[in-house]
Amino acid sequence: MKTILSGIKPSGSLTLGNYIGAIKQFVQLQQHMDDAIFYLFVADLHAITVEQKKSDLLTAIRQVAGMYLAAGLDPAKTVLFIQSEIPQHAELGYLLQCNTYMGELERMTQYKDKNRKQDTSLTSALFTYPALMAADILLYDADYVPVGDDQKQHLELARDIAIRMNHRYGDCFKVPEPIIPEVGARIMDLQNPGKKMSKSDESDKGYVSLFDDEATIIKKIKSAVTDSIGIVQFDPVHQPGVSNLLTIYATLTELSIQDICAKYESKGYKEFKEDLAHIVASTLKPLKARYDAITSSSELDRILDEGREIASAYAQKKLRKIKQKIGLGRKK
Ligand code: TYM
Repeated sequence: MKTILSGIKPSGSLTLGNYIGAIKQFVQLQQHMDDAIFYLFVADLHAITVEQKKSDLLTAIRQVAGMYLAAGLDPAKTVLFIQSEIPQHAELGYLLQCNTYMGELERMTQYKDKNRKQDTSLTSALFTYPALMAADILLYDADYVPVGDDQKQHLELARDIAIRMNHRYGDCFKVPEPIIPEVGARIMDLQNPGKKMSKSDESDKGYVSLFDDEATIIKKIKSAVTDSIGIVQFDPVHQPGVSNLLTIYATLTELSIQDICAKYESKGYKEFKEDLAHIVASTLKPLKARYDAITSSSELDRILDEGREIASAYAQKKLRKIKQKIGLGRKK
């Protein structure tokens, strides 16, 4: 049996990027892999690496947990839990920090991007974040980790730490493999297609939130930045906006980019965007309806309680083994 693991940080509102790059992928993998158990969690410890308002954080945690289920993940094959309810994540995170070099963390582009802005509120936890993320993965001996493109470098670091510790202390961890979708691994901002669509963005015009109402979704897609070339074709260098919209279209309809280009060959951007706006809206509408049903019942808490018990049992055993391997405590 294979273990698939992934997490989502509850900060800001979940975006279409999270849905296409991660959540949708999880559901597809689950449908195609009969013999696999999915560990999916809400990475709330990661969210607090930047300041969060308590009420917003609590809301976002529930939103992420609820969306996993609303998107169609099968609770019978999923261990769904909240990261901070399993203290072993933070403890293993520390042990991994002791085996991670400053230079490795300094090379992480997500950290470098944030640091470049000379933000004085950068916390030390934001710097050590990739070691905690490695702990999230290695604690459960994950075989595969499905993520979007922006997490690839963190995954490589997790692999390096696992290999290093296996070498240093003998057989500690399974070395995980990333799974990154071929199409949709990096959905770009609708207003600035040079940067990734992000839920922590200052302007909300650049991203579609999974909680946006229909009129807002349609407005955002229709006002997405394009170009003056006027031909619907996939050319990320010269037509980054249109190419991004094509990617969204392809992932939500399962049509190939080629077929979509052919469909709009003699039509302008207006019709293409209008159709896409309705595709996005009609994808998110049932998702939101399922989300409302799940979060208004006691089902979500029951599933999260069950997930916590299973994850906790695994994590305790694993951490005990690693501490012994390192030589901590009294037991040989
Ligand atoms: P987070 O919360 O930023 O993003 C969650 C998932 O969504 C993907 N994603 C995107 N995919 C395509 N286009 C986009 N614009 C886009 N934006 C986000 C991300 O790649 C990710 O898969 N550190 C992680 C959470 C985490 C984690 C883990 C993931 C913590 N521990 C262990 C995997 C394994 C994060 O902040 O993702």
